Amino acid sequence: MDINWKELGFHYTETDTIVRSAFHGRWENGRLKGEWEEPYATRDKYIHLHLSATCLQYGQEAFEGLKAFRGADGRIRIFRWRDNAERLQRSAHALKMAEPPIELFGRALRLALETNMDFVPPYDTGATLYFRPILIGTTPQLGVGPGVDYELAIIPSPIGPYYPGKFHCTTFIINRRVDRAAPLGTGAYKVGGNYAASFRATEEAHLQGYDCLFLDSKTHRYIDECSAANFIGIKQTDEGIEYLTPRSNAILPSITNASLMALAWDKGYKVTRRHILVEELAEMQEAAACGTACVISPIDRVIDPDKGRMYEISRTPGPVLTDLYQSLQDIQYGRAEDKYGWCTILNKKHTN
Ligand code: PLP
Ligand code: COI
Repeated sequence: MDINWKELGFHYTETDTIVRSAFHGRWENGRLKGEWEEPYATRDKYIHLHLSATCLQYGQEAFEGLKAFRGADGRIRIFRWRDNAERLQRSAHALKMAEPPIELFGRALRLALETNMDFVPPYDTGATLYFRPILIGTTPQLGVGPGVDYELAIIPSPIGPYYPGKFHCTTFIINRRVDRAAPLGTGAYKVGGNYAASFRATEEAHLQGYDCLFLDSKTHRYIDECSAANFIGIKQTDEGIEYLTPRSNAILPSITNASLMALAWDKGYKVTRRHILVEELAEMQEAAACGTACVISPIDRVIDPDKGRMYEISRTPGPVLTDLYQSLQDIQYGRAEDKYGWCTILNKKHTN
């Protein structure tokens, strides 16, 4: 194996195995009943799928993203996996799919780690082992409706930073011509369709060297989120530091954001989740995208071409977000006490 850990970006690198578990069910009085098979690891990364499967025909697909960190002490920590398992259940429920039991998800994840230990990047390389759980509908059918067969797979891949550069600023651009998610649609769930729906806007932004900031699709006045991350703003007033993040039915409840809110609260900051007007960007001293893949990615500017405005936020990563980033990573890499109980240590022995 020849991986240059320090050069890894957010790209797929094949590992030894993926882990799979199939569900076969039937409808009983309007309820889906069935059994999950015990997760197993396989070297085969391909599946034999009917072209009429409900994931292909009607978009029955949900996914997750979580990471294992090799710590300063050689132990491997998985961050808040139960929260990902629960969120996958909510996404499955939203698309009328079978919900993988939490403990089954946990066993699958453990197997995915144990059969790919060599792919957990060394400490201090900036790289981690990312797990991409996916859930797909596999029933072949033409009728418009949910199927009865599903497959859960956990795909590991070592990854580096989501945005190039470890803690570099990114510029975001607002696009009012493409909506990512409807107010009562699937925006709050991690389903593939949301991402496909955002590609037109994100690719347009990337071509200009930016990333895309989505607004609420009803009024286009409030900040929703980034294409693959939540939004955070920091305001400093005479009363102290405020951590601001949007409240919206159409954004993903980010586990990273929830963790940062807890850390911010414990640091004595005011933590506020509410509707945030685009114009409020002018009052923020710091802003960032946050999520599992991007951790905290500071935002230097936000461009609003429709309104002819450019919000200059902070040319370099600001002190508040830098400190939050450090506090979160200290817990994830085992450099600080995990007083929140967020990390699950999967190898009790040191394996540096
Ligand atoms: N919002 C979207 C649309 C995402 O894809 C992600 C990534 O998972 C997030 C927010 C951040 O969520 P989390 O912190 O749970 O990874
Ligand atoms: C994550 O942060 O884990 C994500 O899933 C976001 C994106 C890469 C799709």
